[in-house]
Amino acid sequence: MFASLAVYTLLALKVCTVSAFPAYKSLAGLTREALDAAVSSTTFVPPPSPPGPLADQSAKLVNDAAHPYQPLRPGDQRGPCPALNTLASHGYLPRNGVATPAQIVTAVQEGLNLENSFARFLTYSTFLVNGNPITNLMSIGDKTSGTGQDPPKPATVAGLDTHNNCEGDTSMTRADAFFGDNHSFNESRFQNFIKYSEKYGAGKYNYTVAAQLRKFLIQDSIQNNPQFSLVSPRLFTAFAESVFPINFFIDGRDTSGQLDLDVARSFFQNMTFPPNFFRRAGAVSNVGQNVVTDLLPNFKPGYNAHGVNTFTVDSTSATLTEPCLRYTNFVNKNIKQLYPNPTGVLKQALTINLQFLYEATVAANESCTQVFPYGH
Ligand code: HEM
Ligand SMILES: *[C@@H]1O[C@H](CO)[C@@H](O)[C@H](O)[C@H]1NC(C)=O
Ligand SMILES: *[C@@H]1O[C@H](CO)[C@@H](O)[C@H](O)[C@H]1NC(C)=O
Ligand SMILES: *[C@@H]1O[C@H](CO)[C@@H](O)[C@H](O)[C@H]1NC(C)=O
Ligand SMILES: *[C@@H]1O[C@H](CO)[C@@H](O)[C@H](O)[C@H]1NC(C)=O
Ligand SMILES: *[C@@H]1O[C@H](CO)[C@@H](O)[C@H](O)[C@H]1NC(C)=O
Repeated sequence: MFASLAVYTLLALKVCTVSAFPAYKSLAGLTREALDAAVSSTTFVPPPSPPGPLADQSAKLVNDAAHPYQPLRPGDQRGPCPALNTLASHGYLPRNGVATPAQIVTAVQEGLNLENSFARFLTYSTFLVNGNPITNLMSIGDKTSGTGQDPPKPATVAGLDTHNNCEGDTSMTRADAFFGDNHSFNESRFQNFIKYSEKYGAGKYNYTVAAQLRKFLIQDSIQNNPQFSLVSPRLFTAFAESVFPINFFIDGRDTSGQLDLDVARSFFQNMTFPPNFFRRAGAVSNVGQNVVTDLLPNFKPGYNAHGVNTFTVDSTSATLTEPCLRYTNFVNKNIKQLYPNPTGVLKQALTINLQFLYEATVAANESCTQVFPYGH
């Protein structure tokens, strides 16, 4: 099964120490002194280092007897990411949808063969804005008391559904936040995914379709969403996610690069591996993304400044070819905004997670200069 007894014991310990506080009550009303006292009386367990790459990266059956699909129970969290949803529904992640960063890295590697540095990068950047640094837990869906006592505002700790730098506009199967539900499977958007696969992929989703669909989705949001925005870091995930279904949702015994639409629906909507599903052979990340960017050579990050059809370039945003500016802005702006002045164990936890994020960017061969928003 997914977790060893030791992991569960550790989790139970953390949850217990945290729930010594009134359940799910923000600490925002407390004075600085009361806050420091409250936070430091939590038994803080420094987060473990992220897992390394898989030793065996071969294709293998992952929809196996040890990981059966189970339907959601009341309160289980699922969100905008079809991969994490599926991994939770098969027990590669805790089925309640609340997980540690290390559990997420392990699950995306074991279940889908996502490359280690990319897995760490995605996980720690998401965790730093949407997870709870003290309890080391994050919801893959909505905000939940399952992640423990919140740190002080303006931190949100609101899970992957949060419309910020991870969840964003122009998703393939989720509506833009402006239209209300930003994270549930949306049938009319999936019908458009089918339409594009029929038009450009002879009924399959491939890199050619991914590029055409991404181009359409950007235009569609510019024309219909008055609050449309596509800037870093969401910009990077939007383009990577376009090729993820091809790289990870095609059975590992099939090297055609053509994703069947029922298989796509199984992941996107049903949160289920197809029967007898094999993960891909060999760990990869966003291979094929060049096909998408080649179709949109002039796209610049930006937003609708004054309602629909007022797309305005945001020259402060990193572009797709500026990964180090993405890293620096993310740390100095996005994280600093949520945690302007952390102290005690909160600062310690943030510093450790920021270190993991930096190490992931280096491992991905991006030789960026490290930044230290909270000192050395
Ligand atoms: C092999 C691993 C993964 C695959 C195949 C995958 C796949 C995808 C795909 C295809 C989408 C787009 C959904 C859509 O546009 O309708 C998505 C969205 C998302 N994923 Fe993942 N993902 C993976 C790993 C991760 C990890 C490790 C994280 C972070 C912990 C993550 C967080 C998200 C978030 C926040 C979104 C929402 C973005 C949005 O559409 O607004 N994913 N994922
Ligand atoms: C699906 O998305 C479209 C926008 O792309 C939106 O107009 C519609 O309301 C969404 N449907 C649901 C059920 O949320
Ligand atoms: C996105 O969905 C979440 C969960 O339903 C909701 O709390 C949040 O308000 C939505 N974000 C926006 C900007 O609509
Ligand atoms: C996608 O499918 C179409 C139709 O079969 C084909 O012309 C195109 O070459 C395919 N693209 C890729 C990258 O496989
Ligand atoms: C999705 O789940 C429904 C209900 O269990 C089932 O009828 C349908 O065949 C599934 N579709 C796919 C593509 O897995
Ligand atoms: C980084 O570069 C090294 C040396 O060229 C290579 O072995 C490794 O695969 C690269 N890592 C990634 C994630 O691309």
